[in-house]
Amino acid sequence: MSELASRRILLGVTGGVAAYKAAELARLLVKAGADVQVVMTEAATRFVTPVTLQALVGRAVLTDMWDASVPNNMAHIEASRDREIVVVAPATAGFLAKLAHGFADDLLSALCLARECPLLVAPAMNRQMWEHPATQRNVATLRADGVAVVGPAAGDQACGETGLGRMSEPADIYAELVALLAPKTLAGKRVLVTAGPTFEPIDTVRGITNLSSGKMGYAVAQAAAEAGAEVTLVSGPTALPTPPRVARVDVTTAREMRDAVLARAPGTDIFIAVAAVADYHVVGAKDHKIKKRAGEAPTLTLAENPDILGEVASLPRPPFCVGFAAETENLREYAQAKRKKKGIPLLAANLAQEAFGADDNALTLFDDHGEHVLPRAPKIRLARELVGHIARMLAPR
Ligand code: PMT
Repeated sequence: MSELASRRILLGVTGGVAAYKAAELARLLVKAGADVQVVMTEAATRFVTPVTLQALVGRAVLTDMWDASVPNNMAHIEASRDREIVVVAPATAGFLAKLAHGFADDLLSALCLARECPLLVAPAMNRQMWEHPATQRNVATLRADGVAVVGPAAGDQACGETGLGRMSEPADIYAELVALLAPKTLAGKRVLVTAGPTFEPIDTVRGITNLSSGKMGYAVAQAAAEAGAEVTLVSGPTALPTPPRVARVDVTTAREMRDAVLARAPGTDIFIAVAAVADYHVVGAKDHKIKKRAGEAPTLTLAENPDILGEVASLPRPPFCVGFAAETENLREYAQAKRKKKGIPLLAANLAQEAFGADDNALTLFDDHGEHVLPRAPKIRLARELVGHIARMLAPR
């Protein structure tokens, strides 16, 4: 089931070119099973018709403060009362100014003022308007008032200029809604995650690495942040963007990863080791490119890398440690042996041939109570289930 199934969302649309993207956001929300009420400002209706949005969400769009169809004629109060969140996308510079100063002269601004649920805004405007000190002051005021802000993004603008001010993509606004509505099961917890491969140099241009993309580890970091944790992600080389609200530390080798992790382990509540750490590094890696000589193959001498998870688990006051294991066969047997050897309470096992680089995965969790199968699903969904499992294991009984 989707994360937003049955969630009651009010989508506010204000008058900017990006209003056409509100239709795509509405479609994504409805596809996810959310119950969506759309409210448009008069200016928004100049860009997209209410009929379009009504057709997408399957219920009448509200535009008028004086809408007589609302039984008590109090649309500005009623519209948000049964909603779990209000999202305004796009939010123009003018609308942000109104919100920051508490103006309530149309239905959408009035219901934002009267609401009891969280508010997310997705600013969209010309780059000069975004950079103007007045807009920046207004956004700072809104943040201080507890309003969540997603974007804006940088890029080509409808006015022909290029810069910061484009509305975030509907998929990013959707992800932000998922994060804001997620149960805060790890609130107040500090979580440290490792992700990706490590790269062990042979010389300045060659090295030993593996096929980890970082997708599983980044998804775990994102899911922990969504659950309200303060998350640090120690990442080997990947091509992935940092998940929102996650602090990222980039490393290359296993020994660098170890140093970055051990420096942060004190004060960490939960350590989740998802990285595929290289087991060996090359002794005497060269600080220049090794010259190829015909008929001669160099011999590499390897030395074992530190066991990062093992070291963290053996600290005098270790965090709650979660390991991963990728095996090509005998998954259950090898995973259970690995959990015992590392002395950790929880281990997530996956099949290497299905997990490395893929968008989907399947996990089996091993803990003191036995095994829990998480069937094949996108990595972010599995990560959320894993985080839920950790939160339940840590919850006071
Ligand atoms: O990055 P993706 O493409 O999304 O792929 C995800 C993944 C397959 C890499 C991930 O799901 C996974 O299984 N990671 C663990 C890979 C593995 O088999 O690790 P391992 O058996 O070498 O190590 C077991 C555990 O000890 C792991 O938690 C590992 O992070 C940790 N470890 C291992 C070696 C080492 N020197 N230090 C460690 O901390």
